[in-house]
Amino acid sequence: AYRPRVLSGIQPTADSFHLGNYLGAVRNWVAMQETHDAYYCVVDLHAITMGHDPIALRNRTRISAAQLLALGLDPERCTLFVQSHVPEHAQLGWVLSCITGFGEAGRMVQFKDKSAKAADTTTVGLFTYPILQAADILLYQADQVPVGEDQRQHLELTRDLAQRFNTRYGPTFRVPSAFILRDTAKITDLQDPTAKMSKSASSPNGIIELLEEPARSAKKIKSAVTDTGREILYDEENKPGVSNLLTIYAALTMRTIDELLEQYDGRGYGDLKKDLAEIVVEFVKPVQERTRAYLEDPGYLDKVLAIGAEKARAVASVTLAEAYQNVGF
Ligand code: ADP
Ligand code: NA
Repeated sequence: AYRPRVLSGIQPTADSFHLGNYLGAVRNWVAMQETHDAYYCVVDLHAITMGHDPIALRNRTRISAAQLLALGLDPERCTLFVQSHVPEHAQLGWVLSCITGFGEAGRMVQFKDKSAKAADTTTVGLFTYPILQAADILLYQADQVPVGEDQRQHLELTRDLAQRFNTRYGPTFRVPSAFILRDTAKITDLQDPTAKMSKSASSPNGIIELLEEPARSAKKIKSAVTDTGREILYDEENKPGVSNLLTIYAALTMRTIDELLEQYDGRGYGDLKKDLAEIVVEFVKPVQERTRAYLEDPGYLDKVLAIGAEKARAVASVTLAEAYQNVGF
């Protein structure tokens, strides 16, 4: 049966993924291995747009790949690779940058946000990032790109560039559909439950890092900001902290919020936090063990990534050759 092709990437910009990365993205990647022709990449080219340390980057790329395997990506069921191992990304990125309007690129909200926060260190790479992202997607002739709402504008740019290229130079790229993940868990910061859990969080206590000491995670859950009420209710607006804990709980145990509300009827926040802390600890422990095992076997990790790069290049090189041909190279 035909399986739609899907492409998704994650940046190696931290020493550990956080729970939001897993529940909002990677968990879906694992599920889509069964239903899609899935390409997943650690996007290291994107990770150098804001300044970086080379040794840390190399480590983080490997740690990211090891975590993805530990979380359930299976190299027999998907193509897992590192972006910089496939030179076609940068090659196609250049061609696409030459059909992107300067004003068009300047309208990208994420660039405006990030550059406003770091005006002194803003690079041209950060500006052209969405064009490289378009190349990532179009190289694989992806049918779908599962992204969060925050990536909608970048995906629209990708679709515009694909259509423009096809119109100008002849049919070359499949125009991917925006596949906005609606019912993905959106995890918020444990200390500031109105903000999303993010590696750029203001307090380290707001995020659960998958590779941190499990006791530390437990402590963070127990000291999560809730509210002055007593009742355990799901109400994102008035009880964002408790609602976030319920979301994490439901996602990690595959239970529904309603089942949890019934279970905790008449009980306090302390009970909920204590149980959730245990659930998180039980979840991360084996993930940490498996991650460590992959990192302790660099030969295996290298082999997985080399095979992944080879499989990715087999597709990417065909697309790039067509694009080069059609553009007049
Ligand atoms: P961060 O926001 O921490 O920098 P990234 O932008 O690298 O994380 O996100 C990698 C993936 O994880 C993306 O697909 C993103 O949608 C998802 N993700 C990140 N934070 C969350 C969150 N708090 N809840 C749900 N999904 C998230
Ligand atoms: Na982000």
